[in-house]
This record gives sequence, C-alpha cells and structure tokens, in this order.
Amino acid sequence: MEKAQDILELERRFQEKIDNDIRIEPNDWMPDAYRKTLIRQISQHAHSEIVGMLPEGNWITRAPNLRRKAVLLAKVQDEAGHGLYLYSACETLGADREETIDDLHSGKAKYSSIFNYPTLSWADMGAIGWLVDGAAIMNQVPLCRCSYGPYARAMVRVCKEESFHQRQGFEIISKLAQGSPEQKEMAQDALNRFWWPSLMMFGPSDDDSPNSAQSMKWKIKRNSNDELRQLFVDVTVPQAEMIGLKIPDNDLKWNEATQHYEFGEIDWTEFWEVVKGNGPCNYERVETRRKAKENGEWVRAAAVAYAEKKKNKELAVEA
Ligand code: 3HC
Repeated sequence: MEKAQDILELERRFQEKIDNDIRIEPNDWMPDAYRKTLIRQISQHAHSEIVGMLPEGNWITRAPNLRRKAVLLAKVQDEAGHGLYLYSACETLGADREETIDDLHSGKAKYSSIFNYPTLSWADMGAIGWLVDGAAIMNQVPLCRCSYGPYARAMVRVCKEESFHQRQGFEIISKLAQGSPEQKEMAQDALNRFWWPSLMMFGPSDDDSPNSAQSMKWKIKRNSNDELRQLFVDVTVPQAEMIGLKIPDNDLKWNEATQHYEFGEIDWTEFWEVVKGNGPCNYERVETRRKAKENGEWVRAAAVAYAEKKKNKELAVEA
C-alpha cells in the first residue's frame, strides 16, 4: 500500500507531466480520480456513438435514392466503428466491456441527449450530419490533444470521419433548402427541431458543470462547454444564412464588439429532463440497444465455442 507521502509525490509528478503536455499512457501511474473520470467520459462518448446510429438508421431503408442510401449507410457504419474504438480506449483504463455496456442498458450510464429526439423526415438526416456532427467536430477536435494518449489518438481517426459526416449532412440540407417550397419547408422544420438540442450537446453552462474545472486541470478538456458552444454558433449561423434557412432564435444577433453571435437562453429544464431519461425517445433508444444485445447472444456464444474448439485442437496437436 503506497504511503500518503509517496502518493503526494506521485500526484505532483503526474500533474507536472500534464502541465508539460506529456501524454499519459495506459501503463503510467495516474490518480484513481483521473482514471475514473476518463472511464466516465470515454464510455459515455462510446455509448453516444452506438445509440447515435439509431436515429439515422431509421432512414437507411427510406433514403430517396441509392447514392443517398450508400452515403448514409457508410456514415452509420462509421459511428459503430467510433463506438468500438472508444470502448477499446476505455478498456485500456481497466474498464470491463460487458459491464460498460450493461451500464448503458441499465440506465446507469449517460449518452448524448441529442439522440433522444425523433427523426421525422429525410431532412433530419441533413440536420443531424450538419448540426450534430458539426457540434461533435467542435467538441472532438480539442480532444485530439487530450492528455490521455489512447483517447487523443482515437479522436484523430474519428475527427477525419466526422468531417465527411458533416459535409454529407450539409449537402442534403442545402439541396432541400434550395429545392421546391415543400423541400425548403422540410429543411426549415428540421433546423427548427434540431437547433436547440444541438446547442445542448455541449453540456451545461460552465457555471453548472461539476466536471469541467478538474477536467481542464487534467487537460482532458481543452476548452469549456460554453466556449465550444459559442464557436459552434459562430460557425453555423452563416452556413444557415448561406442556404436561406432561419435559425429559430429571435434573440440571435451579431455583436460587432465581441465578434460573436449573441443567442437566446437554452431551456435547461428540457436539457436535464432529457439527460435524466425523460426525453421523447429515451426509452425506445435504450430498449433497442437492450434487444440488440439479447438478439446477438447466439453470435457471441458461437464465436466463443469456435474459439474454444480451435484452441483445444491446437493444444491437441502440440501434445
Ligand atoms: N447529454 C447527456 N449528458 C450530458 C450532456 C449531454 N449532451 N452534457 C453533459 N452531460 C452530463 C455529463 O456526462 C455529466 O454527467 P456525469 O458526471 O454523470 O457524466 C453532467 O451532465 C455534467 O456535465 P459536465 O459538463 O460537468 O460533464 P463533462 O465535463 O463530462 O462534459 C461533455 C460533458 C462535454 C459531453 C464531455 O463529457 C465530452 O466532451 N464528452 C466527449 C464527447 C461526447 O461525448 N460527445 C457526445 C456526442 S458524440 C457524437 O455526437 C457522435 C457523432 O458521431 C454524431
């Protein structure tokens, strides 16, 4: 058992590495609290990727043409890969994969609130790629410089694919916004429904974020929730204007002095209700993941049986 004095010295050296931007790797000593918050954040990030497949998966069979179907299919498959990448990053911290996934199914673990909203039209595929993946890029690019090596490296690959996700979404919504009046109306309706939930993706305001201060000290977080939210608004509003769509916020206005958009108050009651599990699709999303696990049981059993048979055969040959 390490003595208190030793722990203090280990913590001092650990923080010195963080302050000098030396990456922390799986076999390095780290405070239990650092490990715990990384498992918390990375596992919930992974859950978000996997649950995030469901709203878009809903439209793969209803894509307007083969090209759109192929692009959406590729995007949804990318999200599955992001989830597996992040579950693997979690395992480097000692998290058990089964337990991590069970935490999602039991409701113990969170996933991004945005995925608890329904996808009601094809335009929603554009809004999700443009806004949700656009917000994810804002939040994930700084994570490429996260102090924990495996997470930072996973983010480099993820961010490259997110750029494709955002572009394909913006192309869908642009085409609709410049199409027939009915198509433009569909695009505006999707923006109206996804704008505020996309701002909520960045988390509570900095004053209400219990994890941010410590995560910033440990350079897990490089920017605060509000900073990234502001960056997203500043980048996205001109994109909406360019394609002739109106941001659903009557308080939105450009501030020449600060060079930022000012925007209206987020409905934090809605945010916390959705985070607590009372959003429009929370039950359906988690139930779908639970059922997927149950229905996949036979595949896992077959894979284990095959591996055991193969191993026994190899042992028999060696004997
Ligand atoms: N949805 C659900 N829960 C949220 C949330 C959201 N949008 N925003 C914050 N929360 C939760 C936090 O998890 C935390 O709860 P916990 O302590 O039980 O985990 C609580 O609300 C307080 O929030 P904090 O700001 O204090 O928490 P963090 O410091 O962890 O910041 C975060 C929240 C910014 C989401 C951070 O966890 C993060 O950057 N995570 C990694 C990126 C990520 O998960 N993005 C989600 C979307 S992934 C995605 O969009 C995939 C893309 O391909 C479409």
